[in-house]
Amino acid sequence: MTLRSAHWYAGDDRNAYIHRAWMRRGVPDSAFTGRPQIAIANTASDLTPCNAHLSEVAQSVKNGVYEAGGIPLELPVVSLGETNVRPTAMLWRNMAAMATEEMLRANPIDGVVLLGGCDKTIPSLLMAAASVDLPAVVVPGGPMLTGHFRGEALGCGTDVWRLSEEVRAGTLSEAMFLKSESSMIRSKGHCNTMGTASTMALVAEALGTVIPGLAGTPAADARLLEAAHDTGRFAVQLVAEDRRPSSFLTKGSFHNAIVALAAIGGSTNAVVHLLAIAGRLRIDLTVDDFDRIGAEVPLLVNLQPAGRYLMDDLYRAGGFLAVLREVRDLLDSEALTITGRPLVEYLEDAKIWDADVITPRESPLQSHAGISVLRGSLAPGGALIKPAAASPHLLKHRGRAVVFDSIEDFHARIDDPDLDIDEDSVMVLRGCGPKGYPGMPEVSNMPLPTKLLERGVRDMVRICDGRMSGTAYGTVVLHVTPEAAAGGPLALVQTGDWISLDVRARRLDLDVPADELARRAPNQATVDGYANPRRGWERLYVDHVLQADRGADLDFLVGASGSEVRRESH
Ligand code: FES
Repeated sequence: MTLRSAHWYAGDDRNAYIHRAWMRRGVPDSAFTGRPQIAIANTASDLTPCNAHLSEVAQSVKNGVYEAGGIPLELPVVSLGETNVRPTAMLWRNMAAMATEEMLRANPIDGVVLLGGCDKTIPSLLMAAASVDLPAVVVPGGPMLTGHFRGEALGCGTDVWRLSEEVRAGTLSEAMFLKSESSMIRSKGHCNTMGTASTMALVAEALGTVIPGLAGTPAADARLLEAAHDTGRFAVQLVAEDRRPSSFLTKGSFHNAIVALAAIGGSTNAVVHLLAIAGRLRIDLTVDDFDRIGAEVPLLVNLQPAGRYLMDDLYRAGGFLAVLREVRDLLDSEALTITGRPLVEYLEDAKIWDADVITPRESPLQSHAGISVLRGSLAPGGALIKPAAASPHLLKHRGRAVVFDSIEDFHARIDDPDLDIDEDSVMVLRGCGPKGYPGMPEVSNMPLPTKLLERGVRDMVRICDGRMSGTAYGTVVLHVTPEAAAGGPLALVQTGDWISLDVRARRLDLDVPADELARRAPNQATVDGYANPRRGWERLYVDHVLQADRGADLDFLVGASGSEVRRESH
C-alpha cells in the first residue's frame, strides 16, 4: 500500500526534497520511507483547563506510535473551553471542526489520533475526521477526580447550579458558597458528572471510535497514559489496515451510541453532536431515531445530574463496558469498532463491582431512560426533553406562558417582584437557537424566580430553542425546531397563552386558534436580534447554520471532503 504521505516524501525531485528537508530536524532517513505519519490532533490549551493535561497524554501516544514504527506528529488544533469561551462554545464547534478538517487534509499524514475532552472537543474532532476520512482513533482525556466539600462529594457543574440556587433560596450563605469554589475542581480532567464531556467520551466509544474499555478512565489515572500509549501503537496498525471512519461507521454504530446515551442518562447535547457527525458520513440519522431506539432503554447509571455518583465511581464500579453488557441485547451486534471487531465482543468479561453505581438490568433506576422527541404546534420540527432529569409530576402539564425574548430579557425580569408568574406557569425563552443567539447556548434550564424558590418550588416547565448543559436538570423542553429566529411558531407565543406539554403523547402545543396565530407577527426583538449585521465567522455561521434537527452543522460542511489534495504551490 502506498502511504498518503508518500505523495509528499517519496522520490528524488525538488518537491520531495523540500518536503523532507524541512521535516528532518534530526530524524533518520527511514522516517520518510514507508513509515506511517501519525498526527496527534491535540486540543490541549491553558484556556481549556479540562484539556490542559492532553500534552502529557500526547507524549504517551507518541511513544506508542514510535514503538510501532510510525512517526508521531503533534498537531495543535482549535480548543474550546466550555466555561470560558464567549458567547458560547457551540458557536465555535463547527469552526474547530472545519479548521481541524482542513489541517488534516493539508498535511502529510496517514492517520490521526484525536485527543479531546471538554464538551465540544470530541464532537469537533469526530466531525473533522468523518469528513476527511483518514484512519482516526479517539483518546478521551478522562474525567477529573471527585472533589469534596463539607464531607460531601461535589459534582462538577451540577453542584454549582444546586449551591447557587440554595443561596438564592436563602438556605446557604454566600460565604459558604464561595468557600466551595476551590473544592469543585480537584484534579486535571473534564467535568466528572454525566455532563456533555463524559457523555461524548462514552458515546464515542459506543460509536466504535475509541479502543473499547478506555473511555471514562480518569484523567489522573496512570491507566490513561497506558491506554494512550497502546492507542499510539494501534494507530500505526490502523493505517496498515486502512480502516477509515467510512469503512466501519454505520447506522448500527449510531444505534449503539443512542442505546448507550440512554443507559448512561447522557446529555441532550449528544443529540446535536451525533446528528452532525452522522451528517458528515451521510448516514441517515434523524432526531426521531433517538426516541425510537432510546425509548425502551433502561437507565442504569446512577450519576449526577440525574443520580448520585460521579465518573470515577463509574470507573471503579466496572466502567462503561459493564453498563453496555447489561443492555447487550439492545445493541446492534454487527456494528464494528475501530479494531475491526464488533462492540458486543468486548462485553463478555465486563462486570459490575458496585451495583449502587451501575444497576443491573433487573433493577434499573428508570425503566425508560431515552430522550423523548416532542412535536406539535409549538415544535413542528421537534423538540427534546430528557424525562430522566425532569419532575414526574410535570411531564403532563398545561400552563400559561411567561415569555422572554432573549437571555438578557430573562435576566432583567425574572426577579422583578411584579412578574406575574407562579409554579404552574410555563417559562418560554426564545432567541437562543443556532441562528438567533447565534450559537445555541446552554441557557434552556432557566433558573426559577427567587420568589418561587423561597416558597419551595424547585422545578417548573421551561421551553427554549437553545440547549441545556449536560450537568443541568429539570423539566426543560429544548432544541425547539424551527427556532424563533428561523420563523418557528416560538416567535409567535405571547405571555398568557396556554401551552400543553404531554411527554407520554410526545406533544408540545400552543393552545391558540390558528386564525389568531395567523394574525400575529413574529416577535420583533427576536427578528432584530437575528438581523444584526455581523462579520467574520459569526456572519458565515448565521448564514449557513442548520437547525438543531440537522445537528446545527453548517450546510456546506455536511458530507465528506476526503483526504486527497493534489495541488501544491511549489
Ligand atoms: Fe470542560 Fe465541563 S467545563 S467538561
